[in-house]
Amino acid sequence: MAPHASDPDVRIGTDAIRRRKGGVPIVCLTAYTYPVARLLDEHVDLLLVGDSVAMVLHGHKTTVSASLEMMIAHGQAVMRGSARACVVVDMPAGSYEASAAQAVASARRIVDETGCQAVKLEGGVDMEGQIAAIVAAGIPVMGHIGLLPQSVEKDGGYRIKGRSEENVAALYRDADAVEKAGAFSVVIEGTVETVAAALTRRIAIPTIGIGASGDCDGQILVIDDMVGLTVDRVPKFVKQYADLRSVVAGAAARYAAEVRERSFPGRDHVFSASKDSA
Ligand code: KIV
Repeated sequence: MAPHASDPDVRIGTDAIRRRKGGVPIVCLTAYTYPVARLLDEHVDLLLVGDSVAMVLHGHKTTVSASLEMMIAHGQAVMRGSARACVVVDMPAGSYEASAAQAVASARRIVDETGCQAVKLEGGVDMEGQIAAIVAAGIPVMGHIGLLPQSVEKDGGYRIKGRSEENVAALYRDADAVEKAGAFSVVIEGTVETVAAALTRRIAIPTIGIGASGDCDGQILVIDDMVGLTVDRVPKFVKQYADLRSVVAGAAARYAAEVRERSFPGRDHVFSASKDSA
């Protein structure tokens, strides 16, 4: 039984997630749509409406193309499709970096317009002020350190973090800053396994790993990667638990053949004039 299954009608709050530090691993997945949220809700503790939606569903090259409006629309869909999971919505690039005031205004808009439990933003030391201001405004924040997808263009690509002493020290400072600012949890992405494990031991809030360590307090994957729907290259850290690409392509091929040979629609899929028939 999932750890939250005893309380089917109550949404998991960010305090409950925070209390899971060092306990049963926190199960997280991204979700962007109503039907997928409906399917995932009973299985996970937390659904992240990630800005990866810009790449996964909208076909953009990076997450930087996500907008506040895009995040809010997908956040509303995921809230409609879920009843129990803690729902966190990503703050898109450009909506929080300029100042604490900008960050609070954007976070408030996301929470007011979606009803989600928390927001997530990328950055450590450099975003400590923004996280503290959003938390002070009464909105829970999930941090995100390590490989930061919103910075890949600036970083010159998807570079794994924690491979130099200098970078490990910077990651420690980032983790400390996010914790000190009052975040209830932090995603650690694309970071050397031993470093992610050390960060997990170092801070008192749960760490959620993606391409990080099995020792993190929880794990997250992008849903389309996890079910094998991703059409482009899938990162090394992804485990595919299904092959929906083949299922969808196979169904489309059979449908196309049946339409062309006029075997679809069959008698069961059309209406007769009689009111008694279905
Ligand atoms: O946008 C996203 O999907 C994320 C996860 C990869 C953590 O931030």
